[in-house]
Amino acid sequence: MLKDKHILLGVTGGIAAYKSCYLVREFRKAGAEVRVVMTDAATKFVSPLTFSTLSEHEVAVDLWNRDQSTTSEIGTRHIDLARWADLLLIAPASAHTAAKLTHGLADNLLTVVSLAARCPLVLAPTMDADMFLNETTQRNLAVLRERGMFVIPPAEGEHASGLVGPGRLPEIDLIVRFVDGVLERSYEDFQSVSVLVTAGPTFEPLDPVRYIGNRSSGKMGFSLARAAAERGASVTLVTGPVHLETPRHVRRVNVETAREMHEAVDKEAPAADVVVMAAAVADYTPSKPADAKIKKGIGPPEPISLTQTVDILKSLGERKKKGSILVGFALETENEVANAREKLLAKNADMIVLNSLKDAGAGFGSDTNVVTILTRDGGEQRLTRMPKIDVAHAILDRVRAMR
Ligand code: CTP
Repeated sequence: MLKDKHILLGVTGGIAAYKSCYLVREFRKAGAEVRVVMTDAATKFVSPLTFSTLSEHEVAVDLWNRDQSTTSEIGTRHIDLARWADLLLIAPASAHTAAKLTHGLADNLLTVVSLAARCPLVLAPTMDADMFLNETTQRNLAVLRERGMFVIPPAEGEHASGLVGPGRLPEIDLIVRFVDGVLERSYEDFQSVSVLVTAGPTFEPLDPVRYIGNRSSGKMGFSLARAAAERGASVTLVTGPVHLETPRHVRRVNVETAREMHEAVDKEAPAADVVVMAAAVADYTPSKPADAKIKKGIGPPEPISLTQTVDILKSLGERKKKGSILVGFALETENEVANAREKLLAKNADMIVLNSLKDAGAGFGSDTNVVTILTRDGGEQRLTRMPKIDVAHAILDRVRAMR
């Protein structure tokens, strides 16, 4: 995958910076073109001259063009580099740079380019074991991962400080293989495709404080949004209340109730080529939510009267745009495949993703899922247990085949 690819290598300050010289060599050997951006701290460990000699390109360190005689590059160098790159690899990535990326700080060329880049972004966090294991660093890396950056787990071993533990730069060929794998997946087969994904639960208010909800974590829908964005789609994610970071390059619309979700989807769907309804929308909502908090003193409330919500997927199926693809989800506990197939027809969907509740490593809150993909042409594909991001890619593979 590396042949003729543009790899932008970000080098931050750390003793492992010297090892990145070998990365340049290996990427070039594999046929890639490499440009290097260094932070000031990195230049304390390795001279830019070393990287420019190895990459045969000038190394970029400064955010500002110091050469006042030319103004053409001023203000656009970061954008040019970000657009040039097919992949941005930051190796070694210091704890400080990971923290800056988490918060969107942009105080040097590398962090500015990282913010502007649309290409896959891979981090090789490298630092002393105690810094790596620090809760703040771990939290920052978790946030970056959730947003769709790829984090290469560091190697364990002895550090320059004498500490032993995780935080070392992995072997060079392991990093090269990781980058190759990311490139393999980031093909742009959804470029200029507009994808609308719904995710999470809906909360139906009983009063201003309580609600009827469900256990959906939103992870499957967020993985779908991330996967579609990775493949070049323009993605809108309509989500119920969840505790998840928005994936990179995804437009997020927050809603709470089934009604709000219906309104948001109605507004967004006309522009979408593909709609994936992964949300666990409430089927019923309290008919008359109380205006004020229901007090305990008045005794147990009367049986709560419920009204049926609009079936959003069905309503989309009834007025499906020619050439568009409609994907629904189903959660069944008995006669699973037969019921899901019935849903496929009743809702006029093109595909139903049947979720399993029975299998280990599937369902609410889990990072993995076990699904069966049912299509209108009678297709039935049961996938083995895999991470939700891989399930998302498998669903998109089927969508692509249908288009
Ligand atoms: N769905 C929807 N609007 C609703 C309820 C569900 O768009 N008001 C969508 C979900 O997002 C999912 C699909 O319909 O893609 C299946 O939802 P599910 O709750 O499994 O099926 P129901 O049709 O509600 O049937 P039942 O609860 O009887 O299984």
